Amino acid sequence: MTTTLEVGLAGRGYSIRIGSGQLDDADAWRDALRGGHALIVSDDNVAPLYAQRLSDALARAAGKPVRCEALVLPAGEAHKNLAAVARVLDALAQLGATRDACVLALGGGVVGDIAGFAAACWMRGIDFLQFPTTLLAMVDSSVGGKTGVDHPAGKNLIGAFHQPRAVIADLDTLATLPDRELRAGLAEVVKTACIGDADFFTWLEAHADALLARNDAALTHAIATCCHFKAGVVARDEREAGERALLNLGHTFGHALEAEAGYGTLLHGEAVAIGMVLAARLSTCLGAADDEDAQRLLALLQRFGLPVALPASIAAGALLARMRLDKKNRAGALRLILWRGIGRAEIVEGVDEPAVMEILEGARGG
Ligand SMILES: NC(=O)c1ccc[n+]([C@@H]2O[C@H](COP(=O)([O-])OP(=O)(O)OC[C@H]3O[C@@H](n4cnc5c(N)ncnc54)[C@H](O)[C@@H]3O)[C@@H](O)[C@H]2O)c1
Repeated sequence: MTTTLEVGLAGRGYSIRIGSGQLDDADAWRDALRGGHALIVSDDNVAPLYAQRLSDALARAAGKPVRCEALVLPAGEAHKNLAAVARVLDALAQLGATRDACVLALGGGVVGDIAGFAAACWMRGIDFLQFPTTLLAMVDSSVGGKTGVDHPAGKNLIGAFHQPRAVIADLDTLATLPDRELRAGLAEVVKTACIGDADFFTWLEAHADALLARNDAALTHAIATCCHFKAGVVARDEREAGERALLNLGHTFGHALEAEAGYGTLLHGEAVAIGMVLAARLSTCLGAADDEDAQRLLALLQRFGLPVALPASIAAGALLARMRLDKKNRAGALRLILWRGIGRAEIVEGVDEPAVMEILEGARGG
């Protein structure tokens, strides 16, 4: 069964297809390719598993023949940088990609962010399709058009808004995803519930074991719920003038943590899990939310096997310094996504730095 959702953006809307066998079903997505050139961008874990299937499916599909090449990048956050973008641009030049060419991003959020950004840059913007193969990419990064790479000074500091032409999530690819990566994806699922859907949070508590066991029905429900939620937010606030910032719950802490620990040391989802716990504790400390909700969050993240404490090696002051460079800040003041409890995230301007330091100092693990 295929679940189809729409991202409603005037003139640039697109569909999200979620189901089994999607990679091979090129007749369902072939129409999104307008020209005669396609570049599959993948990484060295995902390409050996799925790139040939994607190019075979494209070759079999009805319609004008497409010249298709594949570029394989090294996997992991440590390689999400401008050098990787340059390699995609070189490959597009080699392919002779004209303005109607299409980039097919096959992989997790790292591949999607790099490939999408390269597509945004080539000839001032060509099409791209997202074929997410991690849970994290299916529930979050493939939808919404944020693309970009890291800078040594901070996460995702270089980038562009560039919407895909379609998102095609083949659930079968999750069968090969390592457990640690599955758990990291669950952090973004929990985040969705924390921001705006308390019933979904309760559902997650009830279905945690099914999700960890990769039960198809449970995963489909979680992915569709997250995509539906994100599609709504993006349609209302594509460029993050307001509401969309809520999707960053836990991310100001998390991004600082990823950069400070060294890209790739903590997975993005793991850093977000720790970041959400810190945001919840800070909300409690500021008197905005009950501690009971922070405890429920902690318990669910721990059940998913996610880290919830700051690594001992991370200095609170260094983390705070990195948080000051976050894209959400305004006029030098910290602007954080906190909550009033499960399902009620909010944007808080001018957060008191000593209160943040206190939370950071108290959150260290062993
Ligand atoms: N653009 C956005 O809106 C957005 C939102 C959230 C996160 N992100 C970004 O997404 C990135 C994290 O994405 P991620 O967690 O998918 O990481 P990732 O892309 O690094 O993938 C995780 C690992 O799993 C491997 N892998 C992927 N699919 C596989 C499969 N099916 N089978 C076996 N191995 C597989 C990859 O090679 C990699 O080693 C971060 O850079 C984060 O900043 C972006």
